[in-house]
Amino acid sequence: MSNQAAWIPEARGKLVVKEAPMPQAGEGEVVVKNHAWAINPVEWKIQTYGIMLQSYPNILGVDSAGEVHDVGPGVTHLKKGDRPPPPPAHLAPIPRRLPALLPLHLPPRPKDPPTLPFKDAAVLPLAISTAANSLYNEKTLRLPYPSLTPSSTPSNQSVLIWGGSGSVGALAVQLARASGVKVVAVCGAQNIQNVRRLGAHEVIDYNSPSATSDILAALKGTEYLGVADCISTEASARGWTPVFEQLGGRTPPPAPPAVYPPRPSLGNRTPVPEEQILEDLLPPPAAGTLYTNPQ
Ligand SMILES: NC(=O)c1ccc[n+]([C@@H]2O[C@H](COP(=O)([O-])OP(=O)(O)OC[C@H]3O[C@@H](n4cnc5c(N)ncnc54)[C@H](OP(=O)(O)O)[C@@H]3O)[C@@H](O)[C@H]2O)c1
Repeated sequence: MSNQAAWIPEARGKLVVKEAPMPQAGEGEVVVKNHAWAINPVEWKIQTYGIMLQSYPNILGVDSAGEVHDVGPGVTHLKKGDRPPPPPAHLAPIPRRLPALLPLHLPPRPKDPPTLPFKDAAVLPLAISTAANSLYNEKTLRLPYPSLTPSSTPSNQSVLIWGGSGSVGALAVQLARASGVKVVAVCGAQNIQNVRRLGAHEVIDYNSPSATSDILAALKGTEYLGVADCISTEASARGWTPVFEQLGGRTPPPAPPAVYPPRPSLGNRTPVPEEQILEDLLPPPAAGTLYTNPQ
């Protein structure tokens, strides 16, 4: 058996798929055989701007889904053929090396039933970490942790999810809904039904001339916690700034490594501990109720 990876030979170089070293499962590690990869936006940013990688040649990739291929000494909670839960991205440094076979240190936890196809589960690792950190971090929105059985009536608290139709935004909408707050989301007109289906209470087209007043009307009478900007571009910041000017609220930096705006990066925040993501935030895939974008 051989291992394969998409190598970037030098800064700003073109990717080349070729042989990669075969990993050994070390103490407490499993080797995961990946079945699906998602191309994360961070990939093109690393490639285009020559950022984040310290040495070349290197291997790009942060998002994948697969099954356990080999277990190292001391691993008793997983065996060959198991589908481990999607690993939160900060289990390993970003960018972590992502060949076909990947050694990972997965905390003890019962494995999830394989309710998500590999191609959908591959979208989760970095997107769910990013969405979770945008909502639950001490330095971000500090939402109540999500529940599988949230009240059908939202609490008086509310959040604005800017970009509810993207990978990060779709997870943020579902997590915020599961936290029991009122979820007001924006997306393109063509995605309004989709974002409603994800659980947003009110969905507004960010291109509409009445977007700001529609958002303010949707948030009226609630305790507004702030915005999770799941797009992090100059245009998205322009979109929510009038809401911030009127209502205040927290404006955490949700989506590093966005090129704009130049706000503090994830490194300046305390990430939500990975055990908490695994234990508290990921039960929805186990229950088969989490939707991933793109589908
Ligand atoms: N995916 C990750 O794991 C991850 C992790 C860390 C950081 N990030 C960063 O997070 C940002 C989004 O990544 P993503 O993977 O979630 O993107 P994505 O899945 O590619 O989302 C793209 C969607 O963003 C929406 N959009 C574009 N401009 C917008 C605007 N001005 N206002 C509102 N929505 C807008 C569009 O939705 P409509 O079609 O509905 O208009 C578009 O379909 C990027 O800056 C990325 O670098 C992503």
